[in-house]
Amino acid sequence: MDFAYRNSALCAEQLPLEEIARRFGTPCYVYSRAAIERHYGDYVQSLDGHQALVAYSVKANANLAVLALMARLGAGFDIVSGGELARVLAAGGDPRRVLFSGVGKSEIEIAQALEAGILCLNIESEAELERVDAVASRLGQRAPIALRVNPEIDAKTHPYISTGLRKSKFGVPFADAERLYQEAARRKHIEPIGIGCHIGSLLADPAPWIEAAERVIELADRVERMGVSLAHIDVGGGIGIRYRDEPGRSVAEFVAGALRALGARRQRLIVDPGRSIVGNAGVLLTRVEYVKRGPDRSFLVVDAAMNDLLRPALYDAWHEVRTVREPAPGATLGTYDVVGPICESADFLAKDRPLAATAGDLLAVMSAGAYGMSMSSNYNARPRAAEVMVDGAAAHLVRRRESVQELFAGESIPAW
Ligand code: LLP
Repeated sequence: MDFAYRNSALCAEQLPLEEIARRFGTPCYVYSRAAIERHYGDYVQSLDGHQALVAYSVKANANLAVLALMARLGAGFDIVSGGELARVLAAGGDPRRVLFSGVGKSEIEIAQALEAGILCLNIESEAELERVDAVASRLGQRAPIALRVNPEIDAKTHPYISTGLRKSKFGVPFADAERLYQEAARRKHIEPIGIGCHIGSLLADPAPWIEAAERVIELADRVERMGVSLAHIDVGGGIGIRYRDEPGRSVAEFVAGALRALGARRQRLIVDPGRSIVGNAGVLLTRVEYVKRGPDRSFLVVDAAMNDLLRPALYDAWHEVRTVREPAPGATLGTYDVVGPICESADFLAKDRPLAATAGDLLAVMSAGAYGMSMSSNYNARPRAAEVMVDGAAAHLVRRRESVQELFAGESIPAW
């Protein structure tokens, strides 16, 4: 598959990760083009024969090469900031396939989106509706909008990535939606064109996702009966992937549920997946600096850290760790915490892992293609990792390693 041992060497497609480390250094994110294309293809196949749009959620992995690949495949984009819009445009994405979500869009961001001619702004509050109307009026435009409604359904995922509960900051309250569509329809510079929802991320079970789609589709029917015509229904992203031994979740099962709910309605179905496209298409390659034996635990201190991959620290997320050299059969395994050089106890990538590794060895942190690089930081003045896209036996450096000088290039010392 995309990341497998060949002659005892862990490879990305046909290329040994050892060679990538030699050429580009560590820590380094490595992506498989074939994997990204296949995961996107799963959506296209499940939606075959239907009027639909797969809007890739840029926040999962915003590297220009990833976005350019998605654009070439014909994807749309789900964005949450002016920065993401700029990235999509720089990568050759089609603005007419861009949906803009998020609870805090600034006036400048709204203007940028309208000037670029995006498909739709997903409105998350009444105050935002008013602001979009004002900006569109200033620009002499009608802003295409959808209400992102909160279907008040528990996605049964980690609380930090659950967005469809009553107490959540996301979306407009379900009960307010019809009134807000009326309000939107009477505003001169607003054109309601769709409806959407997103109940959370890393969903294990399709049932709540499909239930949310059903609720939103029923609501769309009521809105249409009020005389507001809706061209699309956006059922969000959030489809989980396998990090460990979770039961297989097929994209087809989720999508089939939404299509069933949509039935013979004429609307275009939009999905906005992130993780399920890039998550298992990337690994974080890192080198062991030290083996450290403490009184209670042993550590592999590696050159990647929580600034590179925040998920374990933030969500207690589990990522598989593999040695890049396949352990010989019967090799003695130690039990290690895999930790980074950062001065925080939360700086770990994995805990209690049976591994046969020593200083100088390479490790691959698996399933790191989504919310890895995109959530990275410069904490502890650590330059961000390089990113490499593998295509068959070829490796393309798609983001060079940051230099330390770049980290403080924008800073200045006052002339006291
Ligand atoms: N659409 C909207 C409106 C979203 O807010 C999100 C993700 C997505 C789509 C894509 O969800 P996905 O298909 O990737 O699950 N940093 C967390 C995940 C945060 C997700 C935020 N919203 C993590 O590392 O698990």
